[in-house]
Amino acid sequence: MSTNPVVENALRRIEGNRLPYPYWINIENTLRCNLRCPMCMQYIDGTTVTGQHMPFEVYQRIADQLFPHVQRVCWSVAGEPTLAPDFEKFLDVAGRYPIKSEVVTNATLLHRGNVLPKLMETLELFQVSLDGATRETYERIRVGGKWDKTIANLRAFQRARMRKPASERPRFYLIFVLMESNVHELPLFVDLAKALGADRVESNHMMVFDETMEQQSLLQAKARANHFFAMARRRSEQLGIGITLPPDYKLSEAEAAEADFPIAPEGLEIPADDAMESGASGDSPSTIVERPNLFRRILGRFGPEKVIEAPPVEISPLTQKHESMEKRRLDEIASWEVATGLRNTCDYLWGKAYFSAGGDVSPCCMPGRPLVGSIMEQTFDEIWNGEALNRMRAHLSTNHPYHCCAHCSLFRDSLDPDDEAIWDQAARADGAFEVTA
Ligand SMILES: C[S@@+](CC[C@H](N)C(=O)[O-])C[C@H]1O[C@@H](n2cnc3c(N)ncnc32)[C@H](O)[C@@H]1O
Ligand code: SF4
Ligand code: SF4
Repeated sequence: MSTNPVVENALRRIEGNRLPYPYWINIENTLRCNLRCPMCMQYIDGTTVTGQHMPFEVYQRIADQLFPHVQRVCWSVAGEPTLAPDFEKFLDVAGRYPIKSEVVTNATLLHRGNVLPKLMETLELFQVSLDGATRETYERIRVGGKWDKTIANLRAFQRARMRKPASERPRFYLIFVLMESNVHELPLFVDLAKALGADRVESNHMMVFDETMEQQSLLQAKARANHFFAMARRRSEQLGIGITLPPDYKLSEAEAAEADFPIAPEGLEIPADDAMESGASGDSPSTIVERPNLFRRILGRFGPEKVIEAPPVEISPLTQKHESMEKRRLDEIASWEVATGLRNTCDYLWGKAYFSAGGDVSPCCMPGRPLVGSIMEQTFDEIWNGEALNRMRAHLSTNHPYHCCAHCSLFRDSLDPDDEAIWDQAARADGAFEVTA
């Protein structure tokens, strides 16, 4: 427990001042998964096989207390959300509230029961992980997935999406985890996104969790990565499909000399579907966005981003409702800031919450985050405006971050890059307190 007088003083000022409920929550409705992707941490550590499904009782408590207030629910991103045995029941409950939902899924089980129609009732963002543009690569990485079945499920999703009015159509992204063995398929992946009617491609570097994964990292193939990034960028411009890419690598002379790249496959092999209507949600700009490199962002050397605005779409009544809820929430946070003299320094601590499959609550999903309570033992209000979260807020607002925050890019981005004193203070932050549920 910290005894830092600055933090203790801030905590005293917070007490008695309540924050409005979060606008976004993540519900870990299951930790299990039906696939065996070799780069997945949850698969590697066995959680996708032995992990728990969220009991309905836990979900019900979250729904009763949070759904009248939140704008957005994100289903589990640790396992495969559609695998939860009670998922349809969860969706039935969610459908009774004015909320939107988002999901990251392998899309292999979408055909089961009524998952798809029920998901469509609240869905706002549909992100599908494929990692390959050919059957061979997809089935090699997404072990257990069947290319034809997954493509058929995505066609079914696109048909369901196009039946919705434009203002209520969920955004549709295809995700590609970049590895040494699949980066040459990134250009064709843009074609795949176009053929399936997706709005954009989101590509992310593979995170390396142990040394056996290092050979799959693009750090081992930087010139190859730059080569296929450039091809994917060109394809994205030609096809008018948005793409998110990491920045190009800076190459040493030796690295730049590498030219022995695999051949990028051409020509999609997916079953034709004449019944499918293509079309984007309309609210996703077809732009190329480079994920800013953290170092450049901190030092403020990141140039202006070129953004082509998407054509305007009509705003749905639910979106209008959420806009006014959000305005009220931000006004209440502003009043909290005035009353406490502290700043909202992290969107997660002031506006988001994570629920584990067993009902434990944490502020975010960063490594080292503490558990701050349990919905099975306390009300959400006791947790949200309770001492554990308030302490984290007091630490962060006074630039004495709790240790997980001290290493978090979100906190560091909130610091003034030119204020040496603040950086020095944050680097020395003790932040030593433990809260476990
Ligand atoms: C853990 S999965 C859970 C959701 C769902 N099962 C899926 O695969 O989409 C969440 C996301 O992390 C991605 N992912 C898995 N292993 C990764 C790694 N080592 N580095 C970066 N992203 C990874 C997946 O491709 C997916 O987009
Ligand atoms: S489908 Fe998702 S959760 Fe399952 S093993 Fe693959 S990345 Fe992990
Ligand atoms: S670790 Fe990062 S995201 Fe999580 S509460 Fe701290 S600053 Fe916010």
